[in-house]
Amino acid sequence: MSIKFGIIGFGFMGHVHASTLAKLKEAELIAICDIDDEKLSDAPQGVRLCKDMDELLSIKDIDVVILSVPNHIHKEAVIKAARAGKNILLEKPAALSVKEFDEMMKVVKECNVKFSVHHQRRYDKDFRIAKEVYDKNMVGQIYTIQTMLYGINGNMHDWHVFKKYGGGMLYDWGVHLIDQMLWMVDSKIKTIFAYIRNVINEEVDDYFKILLRFENGILGEIELGTYFLADKEKWFERHWFIGGNKGSMYVDGFEPIGKIARTTRLLTNVPGKTTMTASGPTRSFGPPQPGILVTEDLPKVDVDHIMYFENFLKALKGEEEFIVKPEQVRRVLSVMEASWESARTGKSIDFE
Ligand SMILES: NC(=O)c1ccc[n+]([C@@H]2O[C@H](COP(=O)([O-])OP(=O)(O)OC[C@H]3O[C@@H](n4cnc5c(N)ncnc54)[C@H](O)[C@@H]3O)[C@@H](O)[C@H]2O)c1
Repeated sequence: MSIKFGIIGFGFMGHVHASTLAKLKEAELIAICDIDDEKLSDAPQGVRLCKDMDELLSIKDIDVVILSVPNHIHKEAVIKAARAGKNILLEKPAALSVKEFDEMMKVVKECNVKFSVHHQRRYDKDFRIAKEVYDKNMVGQIYTIQTMLYGINGNMHDWHVFKKYGGGMLYDWGVHLIDQMLWMVDSKIKTIFAYIRNVINEEVDDYFKILLRFENGILGEIELGTYFLADKEKWFERHWFIGGNKGSMYVDGFEPIGKIARTTRLLTNVPGKTTMTASGPTRSFGPPQPGILVTEDLPKVDVDHIMYFENFLKALKGEEEFIVKPEQVRRVLSVMEASWESARTGKSIDFE
């Protein structure tokens, strides 16, 4: 028997979810609602169209609701869905604060419904390559992990530029980047330092840099800016770097390219060969001497966002654990709150 889904909020992500469900044999989309009639005009045939979430939640046959409404409505939608006895797949960011999340989860537990958050970016290719390098210890003792995302056209869209809807880049992509970092690095965070700015947006953040000092000695650096204007062909909007004492790894772009690079011998105290550059002579920062640097291909990974849903369906049936667990979601939200506090006070925040 198929698992019957309803979608609440049929905008950008609602449409993405409908086409994902259409690819899954075990899933059947039976109802959609959106407060904006126009959004329903291209709904798939045969699906019941509802005027609001109350009508959709009253449909008995629905097993799971996907909540893809703007961020400020997540709490209301989760509480209503849980009280209607529906299992929940919630869009990120789960909540606007840890407090809000705790209130939502209290009702989810009381109503005994299943719950997960759509952190499908755990199945991003570039991220999984970085995670494989981390998990398999491929660059030795790691001292830095950097993850960066840059908007080169300066664009932020729709409700994301307004505070009252839960806009801002930390709530948007920030939550993915933090989730990826925390899921990869299996260590407590000792301190958090963050710098968060509204560069061109009046109400919300469009630039941040967050430094996570992990107990295992790694510094996690997360940077995002939507106003990194550039017309360069070789400017990558997405970037990972992992530095260890046995090599480095870089991964660039959403269709990731990159390498692992190592030195053939320890370079400490090797007499420096002077290289002339446009900025003058240098020994440490010129190109490597021939034969000193060797590169390896990045590990192959075979992932797709649909795997998030495959896990969700199996977890619903009790065959697997949900890949995204409430305590992980809560930790990400706590890191975001500590980041805001650090940005506000200019101080590093003790954590965990
Ligand atoms: N996981 C991801 O990669 C990803 C990507 C984009 C957006 N999102 C998240 O998905 C959610 C929706 O974002 P979006 O980009 O699709 O926004 P969107 O504006 O394109 O779509 C939201 C839809 O919800 C509808 N809506 C608003 N209030 C409603 C209500 N009370 N009842 C029913 N419908 C209502 C709107 O009319 C709109 O059609 C957000 O939480 C966002 O953060 C996640």
